Amino acid sequence: MTILDPYKNHSILEPPLSEVSSLPNSCVGVAPMEERVAIIGAGISGLLACKYMSQKGYRPIVFESKSGVGGVWTNTIETTKLQNLKRSYQFSDFPWPSSVTEEFPDHNQVLDYIDSYARHFNVLQYIRFNSRVVSIDYEKASDGDEMDSWSLWSGTGDAFSPKGKWNILVEDTHCKLTEVYQVEFVILCIGRFSDVPNIPEFPLNNGPEIFHGKVIHSMEYSAMDDDIVAEFVKGKRVTVVGLQKSALDIAAECSKANGLEQPCTLIYRTEHWLLPDKFPWVALAYLYFSRFSELTIHKPGEGLLLSLLASLLSPLRRVISKSVESYIRWKLPLKKYKMIPKHSFSQEISSCTITIIPDNFFGKVEEGSIILKKMKNFSFCKKGLMIDGEVEPLKTDIVIFGTGYKGDEKLKNIFTSLTFQKYIMGSSNTTVPLYRECIHPRIPQLAVIGYSESLSNLYSSEMRCLWLSHLLDGTFKLPSITEMENDVRNWRNHMKQYSPQYYRRSCVGALHIWYNDQLCKDMKCNPKRKKGYFAELFKPYGSLDYSNLSPKFGI
Ligand SMILES: Cc1cc2nc3c(=O)[nH]c(=O)nc-3n(C[C@H](O)[C@H](O)[C@H](O)COP(=O)(O)OP(=O)(O)OC[C@H]3O[C@@H](n4cnc5c(N)ncnc54)[C@H](O)[C@@H]3O)c2cc1C
Ligand SMILES: NC(=O)c1ccc[n+]([C@@H]2O[C@H](COP(=O)([O-])OP(=O)(O)OC[C@H]3O[C@@H](n4cnc5c(N)ncnc54)[C@H](OP(=O)(O)O)[C@@H]3O)[C@@H](O)[C@H]2O)c1
Repeated sequence: MTILDPYKNHSILEPPLSEVSSLPNSCVGVAPMEERVAIIGAGISGLLACKYMSQKGYRPIVFESKSGVGGVWTNTIETTKLQNLKRSYQFSDFPWPSSVTEEFPDHNQVLDYIDSYARHFNVLQYIRFNSRVVSIDYEKASDGDEMDSWSLWSGTGDAFSPKGKWNILVEDTHCKLTEVYQVEFVILCIGRFSDVPNIPEFPLNNGPEIFHGKVIHSMEYSAMDDDIVAEFVKGKRVTVVGLQKSALDIAAECSKANGLEQPCTLIYRTEHWLLPDKFPWVALAYLYFSRFSELTIHKPGEGLLLSLLASLLSPLRRVISKSVESYIRWKLPLKKYKMIPKHSFSQEISSCTITIIPDNFFGKVEEGSIILKKMKNFSFCKKGLMIDGEVEPLKTDIVIFGTGYKGDEKLKNIFTSLTFQKYIMGSSNTTVPLYRECIHPRIPQLAVIGYSESLSNLYSSEMRCLWLSHLLDGTFKLPSITEMENDVRNWRNHMKQYSPQYYRRSCVGALHIWYNDQLCKDMKCNPKRKKGYFAELFKPYGSLDYSNLSPKFGI
């Protein structure tokens, strides 16, 4: 086996060839030895990928930088709960245990559930914990073969191609030694809400460097133990930036720690349609997650009839959106605090920015332990923050950025090749260009799971892993690179039309049935999962509709 130049000092290892132990599922295939698969990450996406690939007979090697499974769920703040009803965040073949009676389980329950799934399907044997993938590098089989001229993905249209292999540089997080592993296929499941924080940029001498207090990101806040974090904010003037889930939860925790003595200030730039946790979820599902509801919007690649229907029915979507907005305005004092969003509730769904507010959040605002402040822009000064349009600084001891993550950067950073880095990022006015939200048309023998968002990320990752397992075992082939790029463009246009501000989140939430239809058709499964015409048209679709998908049309 040749050793690549960049890795001269490292040995190239084969993935472990330990026997596939008996999996609970009977459909275990046997993959050829030369089809080695590496999965990076053992969060929900990585575990699902591992389970589905091992069921197809692959013996994947999973690299996980942490010491356990669960990804984001291993490192949350104390009050984090599932934002979905548990039945919509459920593995299709592994129900929640009956001991979990809560509709919105807390983070410990979610982590236990994920851990039990990994044990039940015997996937722990494939995972190398404390193994951080530093980079991945594609080694072409022959120098003369220009990838730019390929018309088919991977040069052949197959997942496994003789055109090249991936070299994976892995660091043992304990002893810091590195090794290079070589595989034929890589599945990136590295998550998008961790590791690379999104911190606003400031002109020189207007940023955190001149501030005399402390500045952290919600990522660092989450990494602290609960008692240490409580001590950290106790008695301090805290300002939190953002108005999405991390910011709201952290503000609620700070207000609990400090009460009226030191109110927590929440500064934000965009209002959102926040949701109370007591909400008519079933009605919402009927309004937004049925085939009928998807008829009211334009779809990527739709024909003339669907396009006409979408145009005709779009006023109905506006009515639905207005009704939900009225309900939220009735439940939450958004008007009183001048927090009525400028965009519609439907846009919130299309952007995957639906956020459930913490318990009694507006009660805390009402009593004064949380102060809400809208701002256009802000900068730092010695004593705190200067909010645009205000003369006096907002005096503060701690600033916590709940400003999200740069998941695209994280994805980019893992590639050694500058060309692949450029490919995966797309440009500033495109989405991360992934066909079926999984495959970059010009990056061979590699898939990404868990980047694109939906309103229940577990179920989306599961559908994609199932789809990928069928691609790997040859149930279907990918179309040409040009066709894939056209499809990516259609989806991007859809995202830009329905989520102009947040299209880079790559949310498929408002069209999840249309999206799943495409995956089902590729896999040669029947995309219509309901019994009866009316149920098919009007009943909401969720993860359990796709249990027992079988690649024989009509089943
Ligand atoms: C606090 C929080 C709460 C959330 N709540 C919900 C919710 O209620 N509902 C919902 O639908 N979604 C929620 N999400 C979104 C959530 O990201 C997904 O639901 C899902 O858990 C993501 O799983 P994942 O496996 O794709 O990514 P992650 O959970 O991020 O897992 C990625 C894994 O890859 C590992 N990794 C990363 N880089 C490397 C590397 N270079 N080498 C080796 N290992 C690596 C990480 O250590 C991690 O274990 C939440 C996100 C956060 C941050
Ligand atoms: N289950 C849970 O309890 C839970 C807990 C935490 C996180 N999550 C999930 O994790 C994901 C990440 O959530 P998140 O809240 O960390 O990030 P996020 O959803 O990306 O929200 C980022 C927030 O920061 C604001 N922001 C970004 N850049 C800014 C800037 N330069 N100046 C001012 N404000 C800025 C955004 O405002 P704009 O809207 O104006 O861009 C937004 O309010 C989401 O999917 C979320 O649902 C879930």
